[in-house]
Amino acid sequence: MKIAMIGAGYVGLVSGACFAEFGVDVALVDTDASKIDALKAGRIPIYEPRLDQLVVDNAREGRLTFTTDLDEAVQGAEAVFLAVGTPTRRGDGHADLTYVFAAAEQVARAAKGPLVLVTKSTVPVGTGREVKRRVQAARPDLDITVASNPEFLREGAAIGDFMRPDRIVLGVEEGAPGERALAILKRLYRPLYLIETPIVATGLETAEIIKYAANAFLAMKISFINEVADLCEAAGADVQQVARGIGLDGRIGRKFLHAGAGYGGSCFPKDTLAFARTGQAFGTPLRLVEATIAVNEDRKLAMADRVIAACGGDVKGKTIAVLGLTFKPETDDMRDAPSLEIVPKLAAAGALIRAFDPQGIGFARPLLPAAVHYASNAIDAAEGADAVVLLTEWNEFRNIAPEKLIGVMKGNVLLDLRNVYDPVAMREAGFTYYSIGRP
Ligand SMILES: NC(=O)c1ccc[n+]([C@@H]2O[C@H](COP(=O)([O-])OP(=O)(O)OC[C@H]3O[C@@H](n4cnc5c(N)ncnc54)[C@H](O)[C@@H]3O)[C@@H](O)[C@H]2O)c1
Repeated sequence: MKIAMIGAGYVGLVSGACFAEFGVDVALVDTDASKIDALKAGRIPIYEPRLDQLVVDNAREGRLTFTTDLDEAVQGAEAVFLAVGTPTRRGDGHADLTYVFAAAEQVARAAKGPLVLVTKSTVPVGTGREVKRRVQAARPDLDITVASNPEFLREGAAIGDFMRPDRIVLGVEEGAPGERALAILKRLYRPLYLIETPIVATGLETAEIIKYAANAFLAMKISFINEVADLCEAAGADVQQVARGIGLDGRIGRKFLHAGAGYGGSCFPKDTLAFARTGQAFGTPLRLVEATIAVNEDRKLAMADRVIAACGGDVKGKTIAVLGLTFKPETDDMRDAPSLEIVPKLAAAGALIRAFDPQGIGFARPLLPAAVHYASNAIDAAEGADAVVLLTEWNEFRNIAPEKLIGVMKGNVLLDLRNVYDPVAMREAGFTYYSIGRP
C-alpha cells in the first residue's frame, strides 16, 4: 500500500514514520526544502523522543521517502493525508485554512487516478465539505473522496500515542464512496485494529467536531484546576490534594488536573480559539470554551506579576533564572509557550534573564528579547540569580540538588510554577519557596 503525507511537521513526520513502520510505503512531502534536505541526510528537524531512529530505520528500508515534489509523491497513492499547519488566522481567531486548501487543490491537480484525500490537520467543522467542493471543481473528471482522520498525538510522547492510541476517529462521506474510503483507512490502520483500538467511524462533520471538543475539554480541565489553585492559595488549601481527591473519581479522571502557569503549545490555544469562533459563527456560543480561553490568558500574565511580587515588587536590575522555555517537557516546540508571555514581561520590568532549556533554546532565541542570556545548564542559569523560576518540568530539573542550586545563587527566591519540588525540603534548604495552589 502506498500513501503520501503532505506536511513534514510534528504530525506529518511522526504519522508518516509510524505508517512506514506498519509496512506502508510513505512519501513525505514538504514545501520547506531545508526540512526535506535535512531528512534526506538523516537529520530530524524537530526534537521528539525516539523519532530519529524510527525515521532513519524506515528510510533505510525504503518505505519512507522525502520530497518537495508533491505532484510526484501522489502518483500511485491510495490515500493522501494533509498534515499541514492550521494556525490562528490573523485578526479574527478563526483557523487559517490557506495551507489546507492550497495543498488539497494541488493534490487534485496532480492526481492521475482515484484517491482518498484525508485531512489529518485539525480543521473546523465544514472544512471537509469545502475541500470536497474545491477538489471537485479542480478535477470534475476524477473520483476523489474526502475523509477526516484527526490526530490526537501529544508532542513528547508522539510515537507511543500514534502506535497505541485511545481511539481512531474516521470521518467519511455518505454512501459508497465513504464506505470505500473507510475500507482503505481501516486497512492502513490494520496493525492498530489488531490490538483492538476502538474505531469511531462517523460522518465528516462529527469527526471534525470530535477533535476540537477533545482539545477544548482538556484545556477546560486545566483552566478549571488553575482557578481552583487560586482559591486554594487564598483559603489555605492544597490544590494537589484537591486534584487527587477529585481525579480519583472515575467520572472526572486524574489527567490534565495539574495546576500551573497556564496551557500553551501548538494546539490548545489556537484550537480553543477556533472552536469558540466556530460556535459564534453557528449562533451557538461555546461559553465554557470562551471562559477557558480568558482564564488562561489572564493566568499567563499573572505569572509574571507573581514573580515580580516574590522579588519584593521590583525586578529592575535583578537577575532571574528561568528553567524551561518550551510549553512542556520532551519537545522543542515553542509555539504559544507561557514563557513567551512571562519572559518578555519580566525583561520589560528591568530583570536580567538567564534562561536554560534542554531542547528549546534554538527555537526560543528568535522569539524572546535579544537581551536574554542562554545558559548551558540549570546550575549555570542560576549562577548569581536573585530568583529562580521553574517554568517547564523537564525531568533533569526535578532532580536538582537544592543545596547546589541555592549555593550558586545570590538570592534565595524559588518560584516553582509546576509544583515539582517538595515545599518542606525547599524551605529546609533555605529557599523562600513559592508554588502553585499550595499553602
Ligand atoms: N503538533 C501537535 O502536537 C498536533 C497534534 C494533533 C494535531 N495537530 C494538527 O496537525 C496539523 C499540523 O500540525 P504540526 O504541529 O505538525 O504543524 P507544523 O507547522 O509542524 O508542520 C506543518 C508542515 O506543513 C508544511 N506545509 C505547509 N503547506 C504545505 C504544502 N502545500 N505542501 C507541503 N507541505 C506544506 C510546512 O512547511 C510544515 O513543515 C495542525 O492542524 C495541528 O493543529 C498537531
